[in-house]
Amino acid sequence: MIVTIDGPAGAGKSTIAKLLAVELDFQFLDTGAMYRVLTWDAQTAGLDLSATDRLTAHCLVRPMEMRAGHLYLAGRLVGPEIRTPDVARDIHFVADNPVIRQHLVNLQRRWVDDQNFVSEGRDQGTIAFPQAFCKFFLTASPETRARRRQAQLQQQGVDSVFEEILAAQLERDRRDQSRPTGRLLKALDAITIETDTLAITEVVARLKHIALARRPGPQSDSSC
Ligand code: DC
Repeated sequence: MIVTIDGPAGAGKSTIAKLLAVELDFQFLDTGAMYRVLTWDAQTAGLDLSATDRLTAHCLVRPMEMRAGHLYLAGRLVGPEIRTPDVARDIHFVADNPVIRQHLVNLQRRWVDDQNFVSEGRDQGTIAFPQAFCKFFLTASPETRARRRQAQLQQQGVDSVFEEILAAQLERDRRDQSRPTGRLLKALDAITIETDTLAITEVVARLKHIALARRPGPQSDSSC
């Protein structure tokens, strides 16, 4: 059974999806980390990310695995190094690439298979798992989301300027909404949750309530 959580950057998806997975006793998949780590890896390898063919060839052969709920690239555990403004700035080279996207969606489907997962990203309810029994679209105003991103960076010891975060986020929103495949889109059957005025615990409680109410029983078809 799959619950999908999509939405723009900074809507709280990762935190909420992780907590919801614990509440439901499901596994958690952070698909943004997959795009981030390939971007970080290409930067670290010194690739020119605008050289599409070279970037594609590189990304397709880098072995990515999920082990015990943790993401690994080429045998190395993925950590906080992927959550920097540098990675966010260049991520569109990876996320706009339809061949890399298809590769990552294939991996997501293989990992999730027929297990219980909360999967979050931009295209989880639309492209990766259209059969999910419960789909959420989390959103908040650009200012709220930028404030949250700034607090997150601060926790990681990274100083930032609010206006720069907001501008970078609006640019990511524009790119996320306009890429040719896998663009940020609310699935027709997704439930929108505005998180501006809600505490994380309130959002998680609301999502859990809805997911449990929709959870298919033993007799029913899980692709409702
Ligand atoms: O959720 P995040 O901020 O960690 O995602 C980083 C970027 O990855 C985001 O700007 C768009 C891209 N992304 C995507 O294109 N598709 C997904 N399923 C998840 C993330």
